[in-house]
Amino acid sequence: MPFRLVSAWNKRRRSKSEDHINPWIYKPVEYWQLEDQKPPAKRHQGSLVFTLKEMEKATCSFSDENFLGKGGFGRVYKGILQSGEVVAIKKMELPQSKAAEGEREFRVEVDILSRLDHPNLVSLVGYCADGKHRFLVYEYMRKGNLQDHLNGTGEVKMDWSLRLKVAIGAARGLEYLHSSSSVRTPIVHRDFKSTNILLDSNYEAKISDFGLAKLMPDGHETYVTARVLGTFGYFDPEYTSTGKLTLQSDIYAFGVVLLELLTGRRAVDLSQGPSDQNILLQVRHILNDKKRLRKVIDPEMSRSSYTMESIAMFAKLASRCVRINSSERPLIEDCVKELQLIFHVNSKGLSMAMHTFRML
Ligand SMILES: Nc1ncnc2c1ncn2[C@@H]1O[C@H](COP(=O)(O)OP(=O)(O)OP(=O)(O)O)[C@@H](O)[C@H]1O
Ligand SMILES: [Mg+2]
Repeated sequence: MPFRLVSAWNKRRRSKSEDHINPWIYKPVEYWQLEDQKPPAKRHQGSLVFTLKEMEKATCSFSDENFLGKGGFGRVYKGILQSGEVVAIKKMELPQSKAAEGEREFRVEVDILSRLDHPNLVSLVGYCADGKHRFLVYEYMRKGNLQDHLNGTGEVKMDWSLRLKVAIGAARGLEYLHSSSSVRTPIVHRDFKSTNILLDSNYEAKISDFGLAKLMPDGHETYVTARVLGTFGYFDPEYTSTGKLTLQSDIYAFGVVLLELLTGRRAVDLSQGPSDQNILLQVRHILNDKKRLRKVIDPEMSRSSYTMESIAMFAKLASRCVRINSSERPLIEDCVKELQLIFHVNSKGLSMAMHTFRML
C-alpha cells in the first residue's frame, strides 16, 4: 500500500479510536439512558467521519449531475468516496428557525442507525459535522425510492410478485426494529412511508430515515408526546388524537404502504379533488369486498402477475393494519408471516401454499 494511503487510513483509524475526546462521535445521550442497561456496542467498525472537503470532492461540489432528490432535511447527492465506494450524501439545508430540530434529527439518525445492522435497513456509512455543516452518508440505493416506482419516475412498472417481495423486505426491516434484537430495545420508526423505502439493484427493500425514531424501553409500550411528528397521510389516528406513540403507529403506516402497493396511488394525492385525496378514505370500505376490490387494483400492474386470491388476502391484511384502534392491528411478525404466505399463494395457489406452510 503506498505510504500516503496507509497514513490516511491510520489517520481515520485514529479518529475512530479517539471517540472519547471527539464531541462528534455520538455517545449514548438521553435516547440510550435505559435503566440498568449498558449501552449496546456498535455492531460494525463504526461510522466514518468525513470533512466538508471530502463531501465536496465526493459529489463534484454538489453538482446537478450528482443530484438524486430533495426531502424535508435537504438535498441528496450521489457521491464517490476516496475509497471508491458509491454512496448517497444527504446535506442538511434548513432555515435557522429549524436548525435545532435538524440537529436533533441528525443526532438521532447517527445514534440509532450506526448501531443497527440488518439487510432491510439502509446502512449509514458515516457522517460529516464540520462547523455548521451536517451531512449523512448512506449506502447508495440504485433503484431509488418505492414511491417513484409506483407512481413516479420508476423505469419499470412493478408486477405483483415484485411488490410482494418489497412488502416482505420492508416488513422484515420493521420486524427487526420492533423486536428487541437490534439494540435490546424496541424502536418505533415514526416516519415509515413509501419514500423511505429504498430499493437496491435487486429491488431488495431497505428502510431509511431514522431521524424521528424513538426507543421504547421494555415496560414503556407507550410514549406520550405533545408534539406529533411524522408525515401527513401516514399518521396513526390514535397517535394524532392522544399523542400516544406505540409500535402499532408504525403498523398503521405500514398498512398505508400496503395500500400504495395494491393501488399504485399515493397516500395523499393533492392533485385530486378533496374527497379523493386520501387513499384510505377512497378504499377502506372495499378492502374486504372481493368483488369491488378489482376496481382499486393498480391498472398498471400486469394481470398475469397476480391471483385474486392473493390480492384479497393482501387487502385484508392491509385493512387490519389501518384499524383505528391500535390494539386491533397485527404485530409486525404476523405481517411478515402472512405476506410470506400470500407470496406463496400467488405463485403456487392456495392449497399448495397451505401445504408448504404446514410442512415448515
Ligand atoms: N441511500 C440513498 N440512495 C439513493 N437515493 C437516495 C438515498 N437516500 C435518499 N435518496 C433519494 O433522495 C431523495 C430525497 O430523500 P429524503 O429522504 O431526503 O426525502 P423524502 O424521504 O422524499 O422526504 P422526507 O424528507 O419528507 O422524509 C429521495 O427521492 C430518495 O430516492
Ligand atoms: Mg427519506
